Amino acid sequence: MQLLDGKATAQKIREELKVAVDRRKEGGQKIPHLAAVLVGSDGGSLTYVNAKVKACDQIGFHSSLIKYDDTVTEKDLLEKVNELNNDNNIDGFIVQLPLPSHIDELKVTQAIDPLKDVDGFHPENLGKMVLNLPGFLPATPAGILQLLKRNNINTSGKDCIVIGRSNIVGMPLSIMLGRNNNPGNCTVTLAHSRTKNLKQKVLNSDIIIAAIGVPGFVTADMVKKDAVVIDVGTTRVKDDSKKNGWSLKGDVDFNNVAQKCSYITPVPGGVGPMTIASLMINTLYSMELRGK
Ligand code: GUN
Repeated sequence: MQLLDGKATAQKIREELKVAVDRRKEGGQKIPHLAAVLVGSDGGSLTYVNAKVKACDQIGFHSSLIKYDDTVTEKDLLEKVNELNNDNNIDGFIVQLPLPSHIDELKVTQAIDPLKDVDGFHPENLGKMVLNLPGFLPATPAGILQLLKRNNINTSGKDCIVIGRSNIVGMPLSIMLGRNNNPGNCTVTLAHSRTKNLKQKVLNSDIIIAAIGVPGFVTADMVKKDAVVIDVGTTRVKDDSKKNGWSLKGDVDFNNVAQKCSYITPVPGGVGPMTIASLMINTLYSMELRGK
C-alpha cells in the first residue's frame, strides 16, 4: 500500500504557485488577493478558513478574513457579497459553508460574481465544469484529481464509485471523473442513501471515493484488493488522548482498509490540504480570467 500524501503534494503546489507570484512581482503585475467570509464560530470552519489564509501568506497572495457572528442577517451577508463583487482589489472570494439555517446558501452562492467565484460553486461555473469549458473547478474535487495525477494513478477505463452526492464534492467529482480527460475516463457510479447493494458495488470498484461524513463507513470487507481509496471525510470525534479533546476521523476504516488497497489517503493530511491547494490554484487563475 502507498500513502497518497496530500500534505506533501499540496506543499509542492504552493511552491510552484510562489514561483508564479514572484514572477508576477518582478513583472510589476498585480498579486492575487483572496477574501474569505466566515459566519459563526464553528471550530471546523474556523480551522479551514485559517488554513486558507495561511496558505495565501506562504505563497505571497494578499488575503482578507471577514468574520460575522452567526446572527448576521441574510441581507447583510448579501450586501457584503455585493461589495466584494465590486471591489476591484479583490480577485476572488469564498463564503465558507455551512451557513446558519436562517441564511439561504444557494442565494448567497448565486450572488457571487462567477469571475470571482474561486470555490467554483456558482451555477455558471458548475455548468461550465459539466461542459468542460474554462471556469473555476470546485476545490475538493479538483484537489482529488491533482492528487491522482501527481501520483501517476491511471484512471482511464476504471470503475469508480463516489459515495455521497453533495453539491460541493460527490456530485461534481462524479462528473469530473467521467469526462474525457486525464484524470477521468472512469465509469462512475454515484452512490447515495437510497443506493441498493452498496457493499457489492463498492467491492466491484477500482477507485473508491468516500464523501459522506460518516466515520469509518468504508470497511475492509467492502474493498477489492489493490483498489485506490480516497477519503474525503473529516468528522471531529471525541478523543481524550488529544489535548483539544477531539481528533479528525475519515469515512474509511483506515487501519484495516490500508492492508488491502494499493493507494489510500490519510485523514488528516490527505484530501484536506489538497482542497486548500486547489483554492490557491483557482485564486491565481482568477487573474487570468479577469484579464489581470
Ligand atoms: N465547506 C466545506 N468545504 C468547503 C469549501 O471547499 N469551500 C467553502 N466555501 N466551504 C466549504
